[in-house]
Amino acid sequence: MRIEKDNIVIRSANVDDAIQLNKWWNDGKVMDHAGFPKGLGQSLEETMDEIRNWEGKLSQLCIIEINGNVVGELSYKIKGDGAAYPGWKICDFDYQNQGYGSQIIKLLFEFLFTDENINSKFPIDRIIWDTMLENKRAQYVYEHKIKARKIGIKENSWQDQLGNWRSSVDYDISREEFLNAR
Ligand SMILES: CC(C)(COP(=O)(O)OP(=O)(O)OC[C@H]1O[C@@H](n2cnc3c(N)ncnc32)[C@H](O)[C@@H]1OP(=O)(O)O)[C@@H](O)C(=O)NCCC(=O)NCCS
Repeated sequence: MRIEKDNIVIRSANVDDAIQLNKWWNDGKVMDHAGFPKGLGQSLEETMDEIRNWEGKLSQLCIIEINGNVVGELSYKIKGDGAAYPGWKICDFDYQNQGYGSQIIKLLFEFLFTDENINSKFPIDRIIWDTMLENKRAQYVYEHKIKARKIGIKENSWQDQLGNWRSSVDYDISREEFLNAR
């Protein structure tokens, strides 16, 4: 897939992105928000295999580029149940808090709700995702900039890499809510 708007490009990842993704995935500072404060500890081969596993599917692993620079990644899963399950991170800290995240999420949602290839096979009616309770910036963006619905908090629902119990906040936006809010 490829989405291009102004200086933002979102495109499917390929094995040429493995070195960059491997660096990010092994960096505890980048992966902390996902519960991996020590990083994934993945070999380059494992990263390449993971990228290959996404290829040729409706679900996609993507790279985010801004002004031609590779600055982050996102993914979405299509499971055939009427929903899409995305996740995203701007990994280059210099590009966080610049207003890009909300633009990228909106571009992705527009794509997920309207892409012919996906919607002809599995029409997408809603998008579902979550974040960690501590990620106040993400919650602010989802509630105030994306205008998503906070479904609830799942207290102590999963264990992070260090074995600490963590809570997540669940979000949902329907096709109608998103298209009407544009
Ligand atoms: C979360 C993320 C996608 C948001 O994108 P972004 O480009 O940084 O966000 P934006 O610049 O669009 O908006 C940030 C908003 O949060 C606000 N904010 C920043 N820190 C905050 C905090 N600690 N608490 C509440 N709000 C905060 C900013 O003031 C800004 O709002 P404003 O534009 O009204 O002033 C991005 O920061 C990111 O990828 N972070 C790292 C990984 C991550 O957390 N991924 C999401 C996991 S669910």
